[in-house]
Amino acid sequence: MSSPTTSDTGYRDYIPLYDEYDYDIDEFEGRLPEDLRGTLYRNGPGKLDAGGQPLGHLFDGDGMLSMFAVADGKVHYRNRYVRTKHYHKSLTSQGAPYRALGTMRPGGVLANAMQFPANVANTGVVMHAGKLLALWEGGPPTEIDPDTLDTIGVHRFDGKLKWLGAFSAHPKWDQATGDMYNFGLAMVPNPSLACYRVDRNGKLGKVGKVQLPRPMFNHDFGLTPKHMVFVVAPLVFPLTKMMGAGLGLRNYIDAIDYEAARGTMIALLPRYGGRPRILHTDPLMHLHLSNTYEDGTDTVVELVNYHASWEQLNGQLQGLQDGLTDNSLPYGGTLLRLRITKSDRVIHEDLSDLQGDFPTYNLRYTSRQNRYTYLAVGLDGNRYPNAIAKVDNITGEHRAHRLPADHLAHEAIFTPRPGATAEDDGWLLLASQDMARSVAHLRVLDARDIEADPVYVGSLRHHLPLTFHGNFAPRAA
Ligand SMILES: [Fe+2]
Repeated sequence: MSSPTTSDTGYRDYIPLYDEYDYDIDEFEGRLPEDLRGTLYRNGPGKLDAGGQPLGHLFDGDGMLSMFAVADGKVHYRNRYVRTKHYHKSLTSQGAPYRALGTMRPGGVLANAMQFPANVANTGVVMHAGKLLALWEGGPPTEIDPDTLDTIGVHRFDGKLKWLGAFSAHPKWDQATGDMYNFGLAMVPNPSLACYRVDRNGKLGKVGKVQLPRPMFNHDFGLTPKHMVFVVAPLVFPLTKMMGAGLGLRNYIDAIDYEAARGTMIALLPRYGGRPRILHTDPLMHLHLSNTYEDGTDTVVELVNYHASWEQLNGQLQGLQDGLTDNSLPYGGTLLRLRITKSDRVIHEDLSDLQGDFPTYNLRYTSRQNRYTYLAVGLDGNRYPNAIAKVDNITGEHRAHRLPADHLAHEAIFTPRPGATAEDDGWLLLASQDMARSVAHLRVLDARDIEADPVYVGSLRHHLPLTFHGNFAPRAA
């Protein structure tokens, strides 16, 4: 099946949304489950320009939060830009006010030398210790009012996140204690992954550090009962390129090289003290991990492997930003399970041949084996995600909820039905975009019967630019 492209239909998968809305969704089909109550928060780059200058990369746009508050059979929608320094300045600046990962400021080398990328708070959003935090992996979180989505300010956990304060967009929760674990990529004085635990009262403490052999890029991690688990792809900032980026001669994102010969480094950092165990395996190209757990004496990591170089993956991101063309690559990578044995073997097992990304699962199963992974997939070799698949990690089989033609799926978030005991007893909440009509929807799927018609489809009054990550909080905003 060939899909319409930008050139033959005029539609785009990414369109900025400048306006901020606040309304009850009154156009819908189906019915919200009575016991579904809470708030879906999503984050993503709402616009890809600053000060009138087009930004150079999908990762550079100002974070725009969406919330879908579900209560009493109704959904209330609201969106707000995160009021970062970058956002504020870009309203009046001539051109981009700061550098970003893939964007230079106007003014040449002098205007860009020794400038770090600005925190645009656009990648994830989580609720922890009663605080809603917009996350961006290069700097500290931004605290947001969970009801109004007003920006409260940069959150450094009582000053514990110092200086650049990198704090990734992929924290994980210990389901027994409620502690949140996360890491930040630190480049100086030595390249490392700085690891943190934030207790259920919001107090941040250090877990330890994983030293990296070079300045490298890492986006996600896994949590087992014993370890924080890192699978570090060979994405290296070579010294000369890094210096070039620092001196304002090139973009940071272009300073990344995929050095396959290095292989992939795995680090198991003990959660309660001790040095990391380091292993190496064949080179992988991934951004996202799914679940991570222990199986006897083995550590098991599931992730989305792209079977491609960084240049190819980055090219796919560029395609999503600039408009898909006939040359765009099929969307996504495939689910791979890594089994790390006591004797330091790393066994690779393909879980499924479906192409997708944004793996999610019932978070109650964090750090223990889960049966079902939900993935935004491009069926039929599509160049954007056009379905949500439910992959059975035991049999490798899948079922998929295919969206109507020309609809793009964002990440699906699972939320359990109150009182549920079965892993898949709950709903998948996802935003989707009708690209032909430029209107977005909120879809609620019954996770047990994912192929069935949606339980509920609510129409927004506008489109929704691609969002990266989100969460469902049981409190209705
Ligand atoms: Fe991510």
